[in-house]
Formats: sequence, C-alpha cells, structure tokens
Amino acid sequence: MSSDPSNSSSAETASVDLTLDGKTYTYPIIVGSEDEKAIDLRKLRAETGYITYDDGYGNTGSCLSKITYIDGENGILRHRGIPIDQLAERSTFLCTSYLIIYGKLPNQAELETFRKKVGANSGLNENFKNHFEGFPRDSHPMAVLSSMLNALGCYHPEMTSNDRAQDLEHFDDAAAFLLSKVRSIAAMTYRMSKGLPYNYPRKDLRYVENFLHMMITEPHAEYEAIPEVTAALDLFFLLHADHEQNCSTSTVRMVASSGANMFASVSAGVCALWGPLHGGANAAVIKMLEQIHADGDDGSRFIEAAKTGKARLMGFGHRVYKNYDPRAKIFGQVAENLFTTLGVQDPLLDIARHLEQAALSDPYFIERKLYPNVDFYSGIVLKALGIPVDMFTVMFAIGRMPGWIANWKEIAETSNKIHRPRQIYTGAVKTDYSTAAK
Ligand code: CMC
Repeated sequence: MSSDPSNSSSAETASVDLTLDGKTYTYPIIVGSEDEKAIDLRKLRAETGYITYDDGYGNTGSCLSKITYIDGENGILRHRGIPIDQLAERSTFLCTSYLIIYGKLPNQAELETFRKKVGANSGLNENFKNHFEGFPRDSHPMAVLSSMLNALGCYHPEMTSNDRAQDLEHFDDAAAFLLSKVRSIAAMTYRMSKGLPYNYPRKDLRYVENFLHMMITEPHAEYEAIPEVTAALDLFFLLHADHEQNCSTSTVRMVASSGANMFASVSAGVCALWGPLHGGANAAVIKMLEQIHADGDDGSRFIEAAKTGKARLMGFGHRVYKNYDPRAKIFGQVAENLFTTLGVQDPLLDIARHLEQAALSDPYFIERKLYPNVDFYSGIVLKALGIPVDMFTVMFAIGRMPGWIANWKEIAETSNKIHRPRQIYTGAVKTDYSTAAK
C-alpha cells in the first residue's frame, strides 16, 4: 500500500498470522472509517520472499483515501461522507467538485470565488487553434482531449514543474484551469470535427451553459439555454464526479506517484477512461441499442447472445457494485422525465427498458449480480440532449475531472512512494543467444 495509515482515520486493531514454509508471520489489520478491513501486507515480500497475485486488483487496496466511499453490495456511493442521492437532489456539479477536491462543502462566499475562478479560466490560448488544426478532422475526441490536456500544461510551466512542492503551491489555479478548460477543449474538439468556427466562452454564462454555448452557438444563431437540458447535463457531470479507485483514477494516481504533474496525470486518466469497459461504455451502449434496433430485435435475442458469451450487455455489470449502481437509478429516472418533458420519442429507450427488465429477471444476470451501471442510461440521455455519440466519453471525462484532481492532490500530499507492482514471470527461463543473424 502506498500511503501511511497514520495519515488516515483508520486504526490498526488486530492482526493476522500467515504460515509459509513452516514459519509464521504476523500482519496488522487496517480498518477503514466504514469498517472496511484490509490485511497490511507491505512487509510481506521483505519478510517472506512471497508476493501476492491479484489479477485485475479485485482484492487489492492500492491506497488509503478520504475522498469517496462505495459499498457495492448495498449500492451506496458517498463523496466526503455525503450520499450521492442527496448531492444529486440538492447540489450542483461545481459545488460537488469543490466538495470532492477540498473535502468540505463550500459556503456561499467560497462557492462564488470558486465559480468565478473556474469561469475566468475558460479561454484557451490562441495557439490552440494551431494544435487543433494539426489533427485529422475525424480524430477521436478522446485522443484529442488527452493530447490537449498535456499541451495545456506546456503553457503553464509554473504548474507543471514535476516538483511536488511547487505543483502543490499552484494547486488551486491548476485545479480551476483543468475544470474549466477541459470543457473548452471538449467544445473546440467538437467544432473542429464538424469544420465549424470556434466559439469563445462568455463571461455571463455558468459552467454548463457556457459549455453548450461554446459547442453549439452558430455565427447566425446564438445557443439559447433550455433549463431542462442544462439541469440534466449538470446532473450528468455531478454523477460522474468521482468513483474511488476505478481504472482511470487509479491511472491518474499511478502517474502521479512518479511525481508527474497534474496535467500529465489527468491526460493519462483520459486515455484509461476511453476503453469500452470503462467510460467508453456510454457510447458502446448506444451502438449496441442501435444494432439491436437495426436487427429488428426488441432485446430478447441480444440477451440470449449475452448469456452465451457471444455478446456483452454494455452498461451492465460492475466490478464493485453487486447491486444497483445508485447513479444508474438516478439517471434512469432522469431519462424518463427528460423524454416526457422534451417530448422526445426514441425507440432506443423502449429497447433499453426491455433489456433492463429482461436482464433483471433472468437467472444468468441475477446469479452474477449484474445490474445496470451509470452508463446504461447516460448514453440515452446524452443522445436526447443532442450530444454526438463520439463525444459521450468526453462528457464523462469533463465530469470525472474533479475526482482525478482530488486524487492527484491526495497522493501528492500524502505519499512519496512510486506505484510499482510486481509480477509473476511465466516466460522462458535463461536461454543463450543463438542465431545466424547479426
Ligand atoms: N454482459 C454479460 N455478461 C457479463 C457482463 C455483461 N455486461 N458483465 C459481466 N458478465 C459476466 C461475465 O461474463 C462473468 O461471467 P462468468 O462468471 O460466467 O465467466 C461474470 O459476469 C463476471 O464478470 P467479470 O467480467 O469477471 O466482471 P468484472 O468485474 O471483471 O467486469 C465490467 C466488470 C464492468 C468490466 C463488466 O461487467 C463489463 O464488461 N460490463 C460491460 C461494460 C460496461 O458497462 N462498463 C462500464 C462500467 S461502469 C462505468 C465505469 O466506472 O467505467
């Protein structure tokens, strides 16, 4: 484990004995603030010569963290102790971002200062146009986003020194930059892909409205905010704001552990998020639903294919949740309300509803505890909001930015240990070089 337990509220309360090759070793038990227990094996290899093997890290605690708590068996998600349903009902994305990054809810003055700082940093250096123009027009927006976040760091060497103390000194500015500019880059990426002129941010608009303005406004038609759309997108970002040690956040922490700056670390997080088993699932869900629709299936045939391993029901299943993902519950309801309010008719929603009902009553899914995850309905909502499918995972990245920032900060402040797992080598044993080729 990379962090020192003395930095957390956990206490060592018991120990476990491990007998190897006839010798017994004692290892402490660490207990988290929600009573999660772990065996502290940091001295295992030094004392025994053995390492642990845990493919996919399903049983490995890579850190001690105070940011987010998940109880997957009971479908619980809390940020800094506050349940996600309370945040979804009463908070906003920026307010939740502050909570996740700084560890407490802001008061009105703190929120206003934070909002202004984020708002003031929405513009991109004019040179960015040249960077964007260097990409092929059909580049995937996730590739562009990752590159641009690293490029952004090049304009701020004082924030990207790879000197922990200096990067932390500039943390507040860097956090506001990233939260703000990730959305400007995303909007510009969309404009580039369509060959449209770039839109400058507006000072009078709030976070989500400004994003939609930068993405959608045309020279002849200013984007007019639709309150239901703004609210749904704000909630989408909020629900994605953090999710403890998922693939992309672990990547951010891994990169940060080498001492790399926050811009480089979150850029790597974007790459990890891109894959269809992680953030790419929201786009994969829509592609799956479209395929089912095109095949004239109502989802029944697809469910059968998923059960025999011929297909994967995207948006279902989760490494941690063995119950309903609470975010999916909230977003499923949002999808229903939004479709009614906006009067959207989409046959994909009917297929999704049918898939959900069929899967929830099928023994294959019940036995494996496979429930809808956040991506199951988020793609349908994003589609209803008019966001192109290729941009879905970019939207996830905008939402996840506060979580990546908070995790970078936590590791920068609490750990000096580089993340460096070991392996069990299963390749050829020592073999002498023998070939005629030189
Ligand atoms: N459809 C059909 N079968 C599934 C699915 C699925 N979506 N997910 C898991 N299974 C089966 C799997 O085949 C295995 O069956 P068996 O025991 O017979 O071999 C069993 O359930 C356990 O699955 P696993 O692959 O060992 O579980 P995991 O924890 O390694 O994978 C997962 C988790 C999310 C990668 C996987 O459930 C999946 O591929 N889901 C679809 C992709 C998806 O929706 N990803 C978004 C995750 S939530 C957002 C995020 O945080 O990124």
